[in-house]
Amino acid sequence: MSKMWKVAVIGAGDMGRQHVRGWTLAGHEVVSVTDIDAERVKPLAAEFGIERTYADYKEAVAQPEVEIVSICLPLSLHAPVTIYAAEQGKHVFCEKPLARNFREAAAMEEAVNKASVQFGLGFQRNLSRSIGVVKDWIEEGKLGRPVVCQCDSVAQIRPKRIMHDANGNAGPLMDLGCHYYVMWQTIFQSLPKTVYAHGNVMAKDRKELSHIEKLAIDTAAVTIEYESGDTGIFTVTWGMAPNFKMKSYQDRIYGPNGGIEGGLNNNPKKIMLYEEDQVTEVPLESYASLHKAQFDLFVDALNNGKPAPVSFQAGREVLATTLAIFKSIETGEVIDFASFYKQLV
Ligand SMILES: NC(=O)c1ccc[n+]([C@@H]2O[C@H](COP(=O)([O-])OP(=O)(O)OC[C@H]3O[C@@H](n4cnc5c(N)ncnc54)[C@H](O)[C@@H]3O)[C@@H](O)[C@H]2O)c1
Repeated sequence: MSKMWKVAVIGAGDMGRQHVRGWTLAGHEVVSVTDIDAERVKPLAAEFGIERTYADYKEAVAQPEVEIVSICLPLSLHAPVTIYAAEQGKHVFCEKPLARNFREAAAMEEAVNKASVQFGLGFQRNLSRSIGVVKDWIEEGKLGRPVVCQCDSVAQIRPKRIMHDANGNAGPLMDLGCHYYVMWQTIFQSLPKTVYAHGNVMAKDRKELSHIEKLAIDTAAVTIEYESGDTGIFTVTWGMAPNFKMKSYQDRIYGPNGGIEGGLNNNPKKIMLYEEDQVTEVPLESYASLHKAQFDLFVDALNNGKPAPVSFQAGREVLATTLAIFKSIETGEVIDFASFYKQLV
């Protein structure tokens, strides 16, 4: 029987709950849950029978029995908590995105390397079976080449107001977009070549957000050309009025010979394949928990002394893509990705 790891989950919000469930399903022991908000941490701990709760992450992380620290905190806390956990000699699994900027990312990586611990990053949606299927189909030429992949998100202003804070979670281009940028890299097997985006703050006059000093861009049209010749397009607004009912459209990929439609990185049970005049519903074996699946892979790396499968490199590439999008919006220019990335590292 493989080792049961002892995990401290930091942050008891939506992702905190998913991490507690995922680690438990994967057969490991969540020894504590931490949150500054007692009203969040207590019910979560009670639901999963976890005895210890903390308000201070340092106290939780420093407990000698803790082997893995699972970070489910707002973006600005990914760096300080990762660094502290590594300094305490703990392995770290951190929610996406990696960090707000390359300075934070470099400090995290330095601390992890210095402590010789492992660092895993939470891009669990990229494990969706559909992504492997679509990648193979593109490789086999089922759709022809080049392909265009369109993703869309239309939403009312987010109930978690920190999503709208440029110094907090930094809006949808950082918070949600990262799932698409990593998916495009995976299915195109390629890095961005050029990045162009136009964006604005649709919610700038909303009184619900008037307490935020600097609002994040909430609305944009992003076009990324990949080295492979394929294109990723992301249209997004999180700036609509509360209770706005319009829905996002589904992810679509098409090339000269066919197309695919579905919630591609959302663990779908089926996707639609379009070839000539045929439309086929393709069933997929979705995961019961993508979080369990990602923790299985992380632990397999720990058990076998291998590097974590999704770590700093993926995090940096996706962060560079996000920052190139911000740069293009700011300057109105098409960003050459390779030279932009070189300047960041
Ligand atoms: N992988 C995914 O699919 C996915 C989905 C949603 C969110 N996320 C990421 O997960 C992270 C958390 O997002 P969420 O949706 O769970 O947010 P959330 O607001 O639901 O939860 C965050 C929790 O952190 C707590 N917190 C804040 N400061 C703290 C501190 N100093 N010490 C202890 N607790 C503190 C808050 O009280 C809150 O309960 C973000 O980085 C987000 O981008 C990932």
